[in-house]
Amino acid sequence: MNIAERQLALDAALLAFHHLWHEQPFREYRPSWCQRWPGLYEQLMALPEGEIAHFNDDSGAALVLLARHLPTVSRLVPLIALPALTGTALPERDVHWAWEIPGRKRQQIEAFAMAAGRGNQPVLDWCGGKGHLGRLLALSGGMPVHTLEIDATLCEAGESLASRAGIRQQFVVADALATADWPQAGQHAVALHACGELHRRLIREGTDKGVGRFDVAPCCYYRGVADYYQPLSSGLKLPLTRDDTRLAVTETVTASPRETRRRDRAIAWKLGFDAYRRAVTGDAYRNFKPVPEAWVRAAFADFLGRMAQREGLPPPSIQVAAEFEAAGWQRRDEVMRLSIVRHAFRRAIEVWLALDLAGFMAGRGYQVALGSFCDRQLTPRNLLISARLA
Ligand SMILES: C[S@@+](CC[C@H](N)C(=O)[O-])C[C@H]1O[C@@H](n2cnc3c(N)ncnc32)[C@H](O)[C@@H]1O
Repeated sequence: MNIAERQLALDAALLAFHHLWHEQPFREYRPSWCQRWPGLYEQLMALPEGEIAHFNDDSGAALVLLARHLPTVSRLVPLIALPALTGTALPERDVHWAWEIPGRKRQQIEAFAMAAGRGNQPVLDWCGGKGHLGRLLALSGGMPVHTLEIDATLCEAGESLASRAGIRQQFVVADALATADWPQAGQHAVALHACGELHRRLIREGTDKGVGRFDVAPCCYYRGVADYYQPLSSGLKLPLTRDDTRLAVTETVTASPRETRRRDRAIAWKLGFDAYRRAVTGDAYRNFKPVPEAWVRAAFADFLGRMAQREGLPPPSIQVAAEFEAAGWQRRDEVMRLSIVRHAFRRAIEVWLALDLAGFMAGRGYQVALGSFCDRQLTPRNLLISARLA
């Protein structure tokens, strides 16, 4: 199946299952599918607590569970199965090349560099931070590298690492969303986890200017999206809201148990506040501004008091706070169970978004491969779009 065929088939399948992944249990007490598939609802409510995180974080496992009740969702499986793009081994290098990069990050960079391979074009490392990837590509391919990054401090740190390594790597302090000078024709543009509009702009501008090769591992697709995602390629029917694009990146496979506990508490407390607000005002879910992290570290009664004051609600008594703290944890338990259905579609949404970029490049005369460059335990954002000007 070529990129365009896969794209259209996935577009149609996701549209058919829209009612299963669009509604957010965090906002809706009972997503509409609960009534339509009571057996599924009951199975989720009866799942042992220990299995819930697994299904929420592994969309493949969640899809299998869902298929027991709705066998047609299995048609997504071949559409989101992608090859591993492992590429070629990197040449031997000084073991100290990456002495300051944390282990998992170094492994991601090495896997990306192997999959991207080495060509004979000058390299542009787009939104490159300290330029670790650019440095590795310069060390292994010998081509000159420009690392473009908005943060001057990161560029300075990168410059000293590059000069210690004795390589041809220059840093450009620039805003990737505004610069007219980069990318340039004939370059090999690499972008490892350039968020949302940053990777989309590289692809739009780069294909216009005749970049020779692209290797892009996208992340945070929702960044730079207003109300609805605007596809780059044509012929797609799926409407994706900003929140839908966020769904593509919600798993926590690389979170520590401490981070997970903190996240659970934040969810339960926000839901406790939501329950309080609904009880006071009598209406449905309403968005609220981000909650300062420090508020979730205090006691729940303080948290609820601050939230109530900020959102213009009457102050809760200690007794009322205890009641809504319990309600928040109860809701968190339900939300985590019901979210398994939505999370079953996470990878499919992500593949749809990556196919949008890949399809756009294919339409502009590039030969495009879409696959994964590393295991998802290393990073769940492991998709790589590799394109060569044909
Ligand atoms: C997730 S980091 C990835 C860094 C690097 N590619 C890596 O994988 O280690 C994203 C980088 O994009 C940079 N960035 C954010 N907005 C930018 C912009 N408008 N222009 C250029 N760089 C930007 C950030 O400072 C950050 O270093």
